[in-house]
Amino acid sequence: MADKNTELEKIANDVRACTRCPLYKGATNAVPGEGPVHADIMMIGEGPGANEDKLGRPFVGPAGKVLDELLAGIQLKRSDIFITNVVKHRPPNNRDPLPEEIEACRGWLDQQIELIQPKVIITISRFAMARWFPNEKISAIHGKAKRFGNLLVVPMFHPAAALHNINLRPQLEADFKKLPQYIRDISGAPAAEPPKKQDPPAEQLKMF
Ligand code: URA
Repeated sequence: MADKNTELEKIANDVRACTRCPLYKGATNAVPGEGPVHADIMMIGEGPGANEDKLGRPFVGPAGKVLDELLAGIQLKRSDIFITNVVKHRPPNNRDPLPEEIEACRGWLDQQIELIQPKVIITISRFAMARWFPNEKISAIHGKAKRFGNLLVVPMFHPAAALHNINLRPQLEADFKKLPQYIRDISGAPAAEPPKKQDPPAEQLKMF
């Protein structure tokens, strides 16, 4: 059997050759996603924007800068995370992906999840969120983790939302601050530092 890196690269190459929906016609590059095949954490955005389309890499534009800052704030390395999108080719003028485009692209995301088997998926777009939380509103469930078997899914606001509405930035930061604890809990790892006696009890893993 091919090793997992080879399989991940094969999925990426298949995505680059994909014609399952018309989006490939207007795109410069497909953006399959990037990160280690053994990543415990996967982030799923909406779809490539202009910068991503140009470079063939996810979250390399202004939204990516916000994402990098949010990750730096919790000492998470981007290089430890597999980052991808619901659709792998750029929708024209950054319009929302259509339901049939999301459906056509779904198999690629399925294959990536199946291969990588992340412990935690962070959805950073409403289209990614809809896969696990079809009838929920991001305003109600952002930052709250839900377990699906061995997988923990955490819906977050899209980092670009903080560019359009600066009031969302503190909320995004607060939600990202919950991630290290979620990751420790799902990994079964002990907390990095045992709480000192005078500390208030660590916040429990919030599930709903
Ligand atoms: N926004 C997304 O949802 N994905 C990207 O890759 C870039 C911006």
